[in-house]
Amino acid sequence: MSAVGVIGGTGMNQWPGLEIERRIVVDTPYGAASAPLLEGRVYGTRAIFLARHGEGHRIPPHCINYRANLWALHHAGVRSVIAIAAVGAMAPWFAPGEIAVPSDLIDYSYGREHTYSDGTPASELHHVEFTEPYAPALRRVLIDAAGRGGTSLSGEGVLAVTQGPRLESVAEIRRLVRDGCDMVGMTGMPEAALARELGLDYACLAVSVNWAAGVQGLGDIHAEIAQSIESGMSKVRAVLGAALPA
Ligand code: HPA
Repeated sequence: MSAVGVIGGTGMNQWPGLEIERRIVVDTPYGAASAPLLEGRVYGTRAIFLARHGEGHRIPPHCINYRANLWALHHAGVRSVIAIAAVGAMAPWFAPGEIAVPSDLIDYSYGREHTYSDGTPASELHHVEFTEPYAPALRRVLIDAAGRGGTSLSGEGVLAVTQGPRLESVAEIRRLVRDGCDMVGMTGMPEAALARELGLDYACLAVSVNWAAGVQGLGDIHAEIAQSIESGMSKVRAVLGAALPA
């Protein structure tokens, strides 16, 4: 694998497995990234971590400077990005605490700076291919790493990306299910598309932290998240630890 970047989200604002050697503040043409890049080693392999919501976990999904984040990682030499995302589950196989490597997505977000082809004089127009939003080889690295480490993981699933920061209504979730989505999060786009525009390999490790609204009755979603997030994130750390030296 080429230089690896890990973008951590809710539940993974830091990466305990990373021995940090350097904090890198990148000045990007798109403004500031969410946080300094933390460069270090995981079992001897060089990796760079970025806290998507900022070091104090205060930047909401629709205010994240996705363009700066991806540009900064690319500038620092990253060529593969593993994006960690806490999600709500619609698919019955994706109980809270389980993890998955999604195979596709549908973007329901709006009003975000979602492309580097923004019509400015310095930009170029590229219609990047997005048939497979996630890099198949990088998905395979994660799936195989989970297999080697004995961590249960689903190797597929369709991620719906909603605007947030609020959670969804029952009717909205029913619509996402009708559309063929298995899980729902708020940060998967435009992150994946911007990575593609920069030529980065990008894959997502999704952590189910709750049943989406109305999927298993009308439970207390926040209580469910508090209960399941740590077990899911410990699986994520195990998969990363097995994947990175690959
Ligand atoms: N919906 C959207 N995003 C989420 C959810 C959810 O239920 N849980 C965690 N992120």
